[in-house]
Amino acid sequence: MKILGIETSADDTGVALIEATGEFGVDVKFQVLANAINSQSAMHAEYGGIFPAKAKSEHAKHLPLLLEKVLADTKTQLSDIDAIAVTVGPGLEPCLWTAITFVQELAGKSNCPVVPVNHMEGHILISMMKYSNTSRKSEVLKFEMEEFEYPALALLISGGHTELILMKEFGSCEYIGRTRDDAVGEAFDKVARMLGLPYPGGPHISRLAEESRQTHEATPRGFKLPRPMMNADSYEFSFAGLKTAVLRYVEANKPLSDDTKKIIAREFEDAATEVLVSKTVRAADEYDARAVIIGGGVSANKHIRSELNRELSTVDCKLLACPPEFSTDNAVMIALSGYFHALKKEFADPASLVANGSMKLAPLE
Ligand code: KG4
Ligand code: ZN
Repeated sequence: MKILGIETSADDTGVALIEATGEFGVDVKFQVLANAINSQSAMHAEYGGIFPAKAKSEHAKHLPLLLEKVLADTKTQLSDIDAIAVTVGPGLEPCLWTAITFVQELAGKSNCPVVPVNHMEGHILISMMKYSNTSRKSEVLKFEMEEFEYPALALLISGGHTELILMKEFGSCEYIGRTRDDAVGEAFDKVARMLGLPYPGGPHISRLAEESRQTHEATPRGFKLPRPMMNADSYEFSFAGLKTAVLRYVEANKPLSDDTKKIIAREFEDAATEVLVSKTVRAADEYDARAVIIGGGVSANKHIRSELNRELSTVDCKLLACPPEFSTDNAVMIALSGYFHALKKEFADPASLVANGSMKLAPLE
């Protein structure tokens, strides 16, 4: 099946075409025929976050261009496509609507079936896959599903989400913990802004933290940030206090030297990592999870990946993560989720599609 994926939930416009075969499970195989993304991050940099009205107009401008490119690069006609998968939530509603109205028009022209997709399900699914061709240069990327057993936990960490989800099997989700305030990606972005680093800040914080680790064994000057809710009984998270603690330190130590910025970045990354890892490992132990699936932009973070991997091995649990370039928003993951729904013929009347900014994978308790 050829599936076209369309993604506009935040500040990345994505159009991708995949070819997939096989049923859900180790049987599934897919290849990325085209993966076009237009990132607006440079445009939103001056606001330190996403400016929704600008994001919407950029999506509307780039969607037709990206689609044209994907079709031309793959020599595909709309009539060759078996289904169009579109993100309907969660995300910024004005942005989500851009893709929905675009897909409504496309479906009108082509009669192609449409599948509505939950963005977070896309993040989970792409992290359940692995490259099946390892020498990737100039080759079409081929994926298959990792082998693992349930129950599994999904740790979704991005600019808008921080949540731990228990999955007794795929599709049977239960939220066991979420953030009470800021998402961890939002905290990375805000701390980066305090340090004068560009948006999105995650990769920049990570780079400075790594530089500090290479030159100093421990965090110099004994600088210590809080680990909010790390030892609380629940699996809830809170990152607002951590961000405020950084702000206080920054205010008291202005102007910041490059060295001080590195120390702050490292201690912040350590604090966020310790909270995420300790709660996830405790949950994996309590629920006897056989696998932890990490997804969302923050899961591209090297330090979080390596600490989680190390700690999960102590409770005999496997870590599943996608190649880092697919951790942040993309339309390949939307096409992939669309494929599984298309197999079950879960199509929707395009006219009935509605954006749902706070769409969930399961009811909240
Ligand atoms: O999933 P995503 O692309 O968009 C949302 O749905 O939010 O996630 C974007 C977030 C941003 O907050 C960005 O700073 C963060 O992911 N991020 C990272 C890294 N790469 C992206 N955070 C920490 N370390 C990284 N390497
Ligand atoms: Zn996302």
